[in-house]
Amino acid sequence: MNKPLLLSTNNKGKLKEYRDILAPKGYLIYCPSDLGIEIEVEETGKTFRENSLLKAQALSEYVNIPVIADDSGLCIDALDDFPGLYSARYASSLGGYPSAYEDLNKKLQGKDRKAHFHCCICLLEKDKKPLYFEGDCPGEILSEPKGSNGFGYDPIFFSTELNKAFGEASEQEKDAVSHRAKAIAKLSIYLCL
Ligand code: IMP
Repeated sequence: MNKPLLLSTNNKGKLKEYRDILAPKGYLIYCPSDLGIEIEVEETGKTFRENSLLKAQALSEYVNIPVIADDSGLCIDALDDFPGLYSARYASSLGGYPSAYEDLNKKLQGKDRKAHFHCCICLLEKDKKPLYFEGDCPGEILSEPKGSNGFGYDPIFFSTELNKAFGEASEQEKDAVSHRAKAIAKLSIYLCL
């Protein structure tokens, strides 16, 4: 029998990534809009863990099934992990990703370009402590965008595992190494124990 899980996003790309990995293991993934739930969670946490917990807690008020929520971002070593938690807000404060690419490139003049994407998934089940599953994807920040695949910072992220920019990688290639895929793989192992 399929076991239900509620994922705290209506983002179609994320939903597909979770369904692709967890459906074959017998999980039925719902998103808030499937259940008529509309919520906007303020990401006031100081860490990826805190934000993923805030998102999971907000949803768990509505349902009796386990909830999963994730938080992710781009962390640049030379900028003390900036934009990190603020990845989406930083790009929108500059008017979009192309301006963020330029701004990051300026900030990185003469500096090391090592970076990683990080993803933290929180699993919240009724009357249980929250559990966290995390994944990292190492890379470097390119001085100009390459390719137009993916979303967000993908065109300026050179994956050292794929040896190409995420902007040039196919969906399957990115899914093989991405921070989110690694965190989902850990969650999937736990759920099948
Ligand atoms: P959230 O986890 O949906 O809150 O996403 C945070 C933000 O981090 C996104 O809006 C992007 O700016 C950035 N981000 C997270 N994962 C990726 C990725 O795989 N590619 C590009 N940008 C990402």
